[in-house]
Amino acid sequence: MLLKRFLHRCQLALLRFLVDFTPPVNYLVFSGAGSADQLCGHIYRAGKKRVLVVTDKELCNLGIVERAISGLRSRGIEIGLYDGVLPDPTFEQISEGSNVMRTFGGDAVLGVGGGSCMDAAKIIAAAAVTDEDPRQWVGFNKIKHDVPQIFCIPTTSGTGAETTMGGVVKNSELREKTIISDARLMPAAAALDPDLSMNLPSAITAATGMDALTHAIEAYISLWDRGTSKASSAVAIDLIYKYLPTAYADGGNIEARESMSLAAYYAGMAINQVNVGNVHAIAHQLGGRYGIPHGVANAMVLPHVLEFCSDKALFALAELGRLVGIGDLNSSNAVLAKDFIISVSDLRNQVGISPQSELIKKEDHSVLAEAAVREGATYPVRKLLDKETTIHILEKLTLY
Ligand SMILES: [Fe+2]
Repeated sequence: MLLKRFLHRCQLALLRFLVDFTPPVNYLVFSGAGSADQLCGHIYRAGKKRVLVVTDKELCNLGIVERAISGLRSRGIEIGLYDGVLPDPTFEQISEGSNVMRTFGGDAVLGVGGGSCMDAAKIIAAAAVTDEDPRQWVGFNKIKHDVPQIFCIPTTSGTGAETTMGGVVKNSELREKTIISDARLMPAAAALDPDLSMNLPSAITAATGMDALTHAIEAYISLWDRGTSKASSAVAIDLIYKYLPTAYADGGNIEARESMSLAAYYAGMAINQVNVGNVHAIAHQLGGRYGIPHGVANAMVLPHVLEFCSDKALFALAELGRLVGIGDLNSSNAVLAKDFIISVSDLRNQVGISPQSELIKKEDHSVLAEAAVREGATYPVRKLLDKETTIHILEKLTLY
């Protein structure tokens, strides 16, 4: 384990060097009711003439896409459509979407939807202008060509993909989620328009909100502390504790919707600087193998991973306890950290997410754990996962 820890630190030092030399990105965000139209105005002023909209069929049928992009139409911008994105987009969908983009001849891509649509939009934009196989870009900063500008309008409040340079794509043959992270995939601008998430089903509000919470907590307890990572994750956690229960119980509450949009955005900003951690390393395996929604998987895994790393992240977890109003001035860090972890489970229960899943199979634990340990070692985590601990966590998540 000592050697593993040493190699992990060496790998992180190299990655940190590369990350610190990544050119800064210029990024715009429009926020509040009606901001989707403001973004459309910005796209028009940026001189875009033909925009490919990447989304899913359900959002088209609900009329949400039309509301989001009506400002492009009214300004005379030609619109192409790829609406074939499914949850956990695959490389096959990336190929379909980039073919549509090539035929259409777009000069920009607009992702409208949840994380899957925005992630797909990013990789489709990159894939449409090259013959390279996007599977080669799995990892960090592997894209070497210019990418058409990417814009995002999230319709859920969770992934923060509108402010991250990463995209998750599923390799359907291996049943694994892969991550392509590249500064060239950073959206140029986004709109956080609560009008578009007003009637989101409560289960999606819960899952996406818990995904945002996982981003913020993983960024806060990260080994790295870069730029605004701590401050923006603290803002996100505060907003999520205050507003997720209301957004879940009363989907039409615009203050709660707007606050959750901001929370997801700030949490995304945090992971864009320090990445995610062991919770995602395990949750990605559950999503890849069983199709468990990303936010649900994170919500199930989060308290167990926090418990696992609480000895190394005691102070940070205690700070979060104070942030969300747990304990008093005399409470010790150990008590605050423990109570914060309990509060995470309570919040998960409050928004109706089960702590276990019957989809997880005991016979898969070993292979799932191996993949999670491998992925976890690529993140700046304070404590490396080991196979035995990960299997123990999977036991707790399995409903027999
Ligand atoms: Fe996530």
